[in-house]
Amino acid sequence: MSAIDTWRTMIQAEHAQSDAMRPAPPPDDHWRPYARQFSADPRRSDDAMLNRLLEEVSPDHTVIDVGAGGGRLALPIALHCRHVTAVEPSPAMGEVLSTGAEDHKIDNISLVHSEWQNARVDPADQTLCVHVLYTIQDIGGFVKKLEAHARVQVMVVMYGAAPQSQNYPLWEKVHGTPRLPLPSVPEFREVLKELGIDAREEALPAQPARGFDSLEQALDQLSQRLYLGGDGPQRDMLARMLPQELEETDGVFRIRGAAPLQPWLIRWAGSASG
Ligand SMILES: C[S@@+](CC[C@H](N)C(=O)[O-])C[C@H]1O[C@@H](n2cnc3c(N)ncnc32)[C@H](O)[C@@H]1O
Repeated sequence: MSAIDTWRTMIQAEHAQSDAMRPAPPPDDHWRPYARQFSADPRRSDDAMLNRLLEEVSPDHTVIDVGAGGGRLALPIALHCRHVTAVEPSPAMGEVLSTGAEDHKIDNISLVHSEWQNARVDPADQTLCVHVLYTIQDIGGFVKKLEAHARVQVMVVMYGAAPQSQNYPLWEKVHGTPRLPLPSVPEFREVLKELGIDAREEALPAQPARGFDSLEQALDQLSQRLYLGGDGPQRDMLARMLPQELEETDGVFRIRGAAPLQPWLIRWAGSASG
């Protein structure tokens, strides 16, 4: 099977497993409960990934941030370059991004409410795509469009394992079957090779697992992530398991033994002209 087919097959298998476990149809906007987690102070100086990305961005550059979320990266990058086009299909994420731009008086950013595949935007100096690709089925078309819209370079950031992989052991305990994984860096390397793209890779500082503020928040969010619904015996089982499965450090609850997620910066030359 080609690398591109393997990529799509993994996503379809993961989605089919999700659909089989889901107690209700998926919500219109999957990101609404999490959107606020994808915003951050645009003037922060202690974010290693952001600081590394900023080294690549010149004050006269334009940037397209594909899947910009709540503007966690798009807003601080806008403070350091000429203009950012944020392409983002989720209404909830778009609202968080627009509010952040208003609150921080950042006006050199425009929001295009669309999936990248359908977005009509002019090329920019750089295209950026951070933690988006894991569920993109037409990976070849998506990546080629990133390249075709970048005059200087494409920058992709992705974890070495799917973002939800830290929940996979809990999935198996609750559902009694292993979670089928989404693709991530190992499969992406093969896709790039198949597309004939010669990319540079570098490991960024590993990030501690995203924690929960309380056991109740952990139960709510993990119940959604594991498709357990608002009540029922599996949610009760998770509630009984969580005090053992989570460990608390400085008021933050994390899954016991969860290894830090390793982000990678993968970049290559763009092909847009003009
Ligand atoms: C995990 S969030 C990452 C947000 C942001 N890049 C960050 O790192 O904070 C993934 C984002 O990708 C967006 N997304 C999903 N499919 C997309 C697509 N086909 N085109 C553009 N964005 C997409 C989602 O709506 C979501 O906001």
